Amino acid sequence: MQEMAEILRSKGSIGFVPTMGALHNGHLSLIKEARRENNYVIISIFVNPLQFGLNEDYERYPRTYENDYKLAEKEGVDYIFHPDVEDLYPEKQEAFVKMPDYEGILCGKKRPTHFQGVLTVVAKLFNIVKPNRAYFGQKDYQQAIIIKKMSKDLNFEIEIKILPTIREGDGLAMSSRNAYLSKDERKKAPILYQSLIKGGMLLESGKPIKDVIFIMKEMVEGEGFNVDYIEILDKDTLKEGKTLIAIAAKIGTTRLIDNIFVI
Ligand code: PAJ
Repeated sequence: MQEMAEILRSKGSIGFVPTMGALHNGHLSLIKEARRENNYVIISIFVNPLQFGLNEDYERYPRTYENDYKLAEKEGVDYIFHPDVEDLYPEKQEAFVKMPDYEGILCGKKRPTHFQGVLTVVAKLFNIVKPNRAYFGQKDYQQAIIIKKMSKDLNFEIEIKILPTIREGDGLAMSSRNAYLSKDERKKAPILYQSLIKGGMLLESGKPIKDVIFIMKEMVEGEGFNVDYIEILDKDTLKEGKTLIAIAAKIGTTRLIDNIFVI
């Protein structure tokens, strides 16, 4: 892959979409944008063990390579980088990328080693695929923001693009993890997005942050979700502010996340 990337980069621009596979329209929207903006499009499919906690869903994470391959081909992807775990981690990984101030908040509270795993694998993938541009979804907003900051701080010459969240018709953010939902859970899942919209409206009308969070929590819990966090922050710094509402909640054994920007 590194040799190929070297050759491609000398001939034109490389657009890169890192994924864990089980591709859906969210991934495809990133691929389409990469296709529009670059001479070559490379995607990676790698379920990265480093970013899963001990009791998380690494084993049962959906692996649908045959279908992913077809979808990628249809979107005009030039190369799929699909390494085995032993290819990326041939020996014990000792070097990690960490960002403590950004890792301990939002999703990092319940998933303490998650972002270090994400940053480390993305740094490795950047060095292997050598892209000019890389594409990430707003759906995983904390991830996108810290990758952008990592690229800046570590001088990767890569333009990081963050694209809007793609949703199902009823508002549920598309996610490979939606496949875990039972029929009944799936019916209830749009409440996350509905609570965000409601929260956004209340915030714009001047309601205090504490009250907005309380009302959103009631809405979501009313449908049987267990709220992990609801936070209202500044979307650029992830510190105090009112331009981002982010939610994580669990129904049954499935944890879903979503967020919106508020103007
Ligand atoms: P994965 O969950 O497969 O997501 C790959 C990319 O697709 C991420 O940038 C994610 O934000 C984006 N994405 C997922 N659902 C989306 C949606 N509904 N709308 C728009 N974009 C969406 O995120 C990862 O994989 C991994 O952590 C990875 C970055 C590949 C590192 O292992």
